[in-house]
Amino acid sequence: MKATLVIKNIGTLITLQGENKARTGKSLEDIGLVENGIIAVQEDKIIYVGQGELPENISVDRETKIIDAKGKTVTPGLIDSHTHLVHGGSRENELAMKLKGVSYLDILAAGGGIHSTMESTQNANFDELYSKAKKSLDTMLSYGVTTVEAKSGYGIEDFDTELKQMEVAKKLDEEHPVNIISTFMGAHAIPKKYEEDPDEFVDIIINEMLPVVANKNLAQFCDVFCEEGVFTVDQSRRILLAARELGMEAKLHADEIKPLGGAELAAEIDCISAEHLIAASDVGIKSMAEKGVIANLLPGTSFNLQTGKFARARDMITEGVPVALSTDYNPGSCPTENLQLIMSFASLIMKLTPEEVITGVTINGAAALGLEDSIGSLEVGKKADIAIFDAPNLEYIIYHFGINHTDIVIKDGKIVYQ
Ligand code: NIG
Ligand code: FE
Repeated sequence: MKATLVIKNIGTLITLQGENKARTGKSLEDIGLVENGIIAVQEDKIIYVGQGELPENISVDRETKIIDAKGKTVTPGLIDSHTHLVHGGSRENELAMKLKGVSYLDILAAGGGIHSTMESTQNANFDELYSKAKKSLDTMLSYGVTTVEAKSGYGIEDFDTELKQMEVAKKLDEEHPVNIISTFMGAHAIPKKYEEDPDEFVDIIINEMLPVVANKNLAQFCDVFCEEGVFTVDQSRRILLAARELGMEAKLHADEIKPLGGAELAAEIDCISAEHLIAASDVGIKSMAEKGVIANLLPGTSFNLQTGKFARARDMITEGVPVALSTDYNPGSCPTENLQLIMSFASLIMKLTPEEVITGVTINGAAALGLEDSIGSLEVGKKADIAIFDAPNLEYIIYHFGINHTDIVIKDGKIVYQ
């Protein structure tokens, strides 16, 4: 077998080899650490992962790209499994209010927050949305991210804007090296027009929007913001079950701010993942563990909301809930594309170990997107999505926080960032 790319002399190789499923409990301790590691790639797939030299059945020639990763750390390409990538405008105007202690939900109820991004997203044309999202995607890639989930949700009752967001995500998926997994999140706020009768809007989502999204094949997942003043547990259940009937798997913004029973709902209807969970109850956490629902935790949002409350990641892991970690990149509650910073927050604030952190942004992130068979770990047959960090070990990346440690990023076997 001829290798098209070889990464050799790897100081610290983190393979995450093992079962292709979300990891919990004991399985979090073994991240497949190899010293003096070597990886061989043929076209877009990994053909060898080991230590020292390549075995005899793998050959190299003048065309093989050889990377010497002495003193570097190599991991699977990072996965940001929860973002609101495509949107117009920004919300730095909320900073002064936030500093005065006005809460996220109060800003939303006063017509700001998501409503203000709705307006900017509606006013932006396809090309403007595309180039803004592309810039963010370039930044994400520069931080070692090779797969990103992107939610709609800034058109809401303006369905054309919802479609525009998902079409931008689709085009970026086709044209940008980073893979984009699309989620329909029309249920992101209750439009002013339906405040008196939110169920009418729920019916519109179910009867008019979901079938079109499914028909146009614009989203693999459906997500709902289940929160006080937004969608209730019953409304969220109705929307997600209808989406599932149409082939979209369910995700849920659950218990982000108030403990509404979102975690319980996610378990009841077998969501692939529940997001945020800052205020999740003990019962909710236990039921998620029983059902294997992945907790997608977003510590950057807690940091930025300034409430001092973070999801109880340790309790979740102790109960056996698989934990993924993401940025939640959006213009309101978490305006950052920097997944390495989120890794530091997860460790330094939520007290996750480096092993738990790297698992959260690789194999568990992959599982939150249903992609654990093809990405999220470095093993033979998987996609050659690889991040090389200019850091001697994993701890260093987490400890030396707030800067970019990326040296090289490989996507589908090609160097796409250097
Ligand atoms: O995940 N909570 C709902 N959605 C986003 C924030 C969206 C926004 O504020 O624009 C979140 O926090
Ligand atoms: Fe979110």
